Amino acid sequence: MIIVLLGLPGAGKGTQGELLSSKLGIKKVSTGDILREAVRKATPLGLQAKEAMDKGELVSDDIVIGIVKEELSGKNCRKGCIMDGFPRNLQQAKELERMKIKCKAVHIKVPEEEVIKRLSSRRVCPNCGALYNLITNPPKKDEKCDICGENLIQREDDREEVIKERIKVYKESTEQLINYYRRKGKLIEINGVGSAKEVHRRLEVAL
Ligand code: AP5
Ligand code: MG
Ligand code: ZN
Repeated sequence: MIIVLLGLPGAGKGTQGELLSSKLGIKKVSTGDILREAVRKATPLGLQAKEAMDKGELVSDDIVIGIVKEELSGKNCRKGCIMDGFPRNLQQAKELERMKIKCKAVHIKVPEEEVIKRLSSRRVCPNCGALYNLITNPPKKDEKCDICGENLIQREDDREEVIKERIKVYKESTEQLINYYRRKGKLIEINGVGSAKEVHRRLEVAL
């Protein structure tokens, strides 16, 4: 079984995906994290993806579908997985359907004004990937990671102009997947406003 997390940039897909992954003991697959890691290491994949990511646009379907197929064929996904950031348009959703794996989609609903606030104050650990928020989930000491002590950074695409573009791309390409999964009777919708723990509890109940 695959659990697809849908929602605006900053809705909490990464945060909830992580909590759910620990709870259910299944892997979280984040196409955004995989692509960012490739960019950081300047691999051929990263070099191909960087330009679109910096602008807040989608990376090509071929690249992303290739990543997902490889992940899903790995032994860590044998029990299923949580998909954070895939599918992101109709072509990707259809490709996932062709893989014939049972899936459920969860739409984490958060208003646009709220996600803009969250993204502007997000910080991430470049070493272990831990997520923070200067307002709602600050690190214990300065801007250093609680887990590994590394200096936290702001994501390249969390600049105001790029946040606006990502929201625009979401509305043009990704939002339609909510109806796509609703029509198939596979959609769960939860209110994503409240603490991360509250949202996680709603998600557990809904699943
Ligand atoms: P991706 O990494 O998927 O980014 P995104 O969809 O824009 O989503 P975010 O990661 O920004 O937000 P999130 O929903 O995970 O929120 P988070 O939990 O961090 O994609 C990045 C780029 O990669 C794309 O633009 C594209 O170029 C490319 N890409 C990726 N997948 C692709 C695909 N399939 N096809 C093509 N291109 C692809 O939370 C945000 C902040 O809020 C954090 O600071 C967090 O601490 C805080 N927070 C979380 N929950 C709460 C809460 N309940 N209350 C208060 N604060 C909260
Ligand atoms: Mg994320
Ligand atoms: Zn860390």
